[in-house]
Amino acid sequence: MEAGVNFIDTAEAYHTEALVGKALAGMKRDQLVISTKKSYRKEISPALVRSGVETSLQQLQTDYIDIYNLHGVAAADYPMLRDEILPVFAQLRTEGKIRFIGVSEMFGEDKAHQMLLDSLPDDLWDVAMIGFNILNQTARQQIFPQTMAQNVAVQIMFAVRRALSQPEKLVAAVQELISVGQLDPAEIDLANPLGFVLEESDASSIVDAAYRFCRYEPGVHVVLSGTGDLAHLQANIASLCRPPLPEGVVQKLRHIFRNASAVTGQ
Ligand SMILES: NC(=O)c1ccc[n+]([C@@H]2O[C@H](COP(=O)([O-])OP(=O)(O)OC[C@H]3O[C@@H](n4cnc5c(N)ncnc54)[C@H](OP(=O)(O)O)[C@@H]3O)[C@@H](O)[C@H]2O)c1
Repeated sequence: MEAGVNFIDTAEAYHTEALVGKALAGMKRDQLVISTKKSYRKEISPALVRSGVETSLQQLQTDYIDIYNLHGVAAADYPMLRDEILPVFAQLRTEGKIRFIGVSEMFGEDKAHQMLLDSLPDDLWDVAMIGFNILNQTARQQIFPQTMAQNVAVQIMFAVRRALSQPEKLVAAVQELISVGQLDPAEIDLANPLGFVLEESDASSIVDAAYRFCRYEPGVHVVLSGTGDLAHLQANIASLCRPPLPEGVVQKLRHIFRNASAVTGQ
């Protein structure tokens, strides 16, 4: 909070809500946006949503949740969730226990955003958590035009993950894209795939470039940063406050990865 962060994302499944609640106790609640997620895979029912939200409120030490997300929704489960569970989310919003209804996609298994393609036409989400990064920019064509048209707020996950924070994972991801024909090897230096970004911009690292790439994407509202390292957190806050990468570099990244959809950056 002191460093300027006002958005916290957690989840029932992470078992971190109580820690977040403890950390935020005494902070000015109206200056914070708290997002948490309801798991549904093992078991779900309207009663479990009601008891789940009460537990989350208690653990977070608050009387409302800003964004209550359905966690990691698979396309196959969406019709059931829409018919049986989302009406309860809407009631909770009317009651003021949650402010906005959110969804996070299962990016690893749903790299082409099928669940969002199926569900966005129903216009039930206020907020969507979407996988997007330099290596998989598919949401730009498939999803962001629709979220913008429907005024659905977008949180980005996977901005960095492992492939953009570990050089050997980046090479492996690029090799995979080449092997499935989604990246032209003539357009990239396999030994140092994103070296040109550091040469042609003021980016201090690939991680810095990766957060800034997402931050200025039209249709994006929040870029999440996941870290367990205080120095990384401080660096990432600084990255998210820096200006966009030079337009030429952004266009090059858009061009090189224009057909890339096979990797998440994991
Ligand atoms: N389906 C879902 O609902 C779902 C799935 C995945 C993630 N999420 C959400 O997405 C949010 C963001 O998580 P993410 O994993 O996508 O975050 P991310 O910011 O893309 O990646 C985090 C990874 O990058 C590393 N990293 C971060 N900053 C770094 C730095 N400055 N230098 C080097 N390495 C750095 C972290 O390791 P260190 O800890 O070492 O910094 C971690 O391995 C979370 O709030 C999570 O809830 C949701």
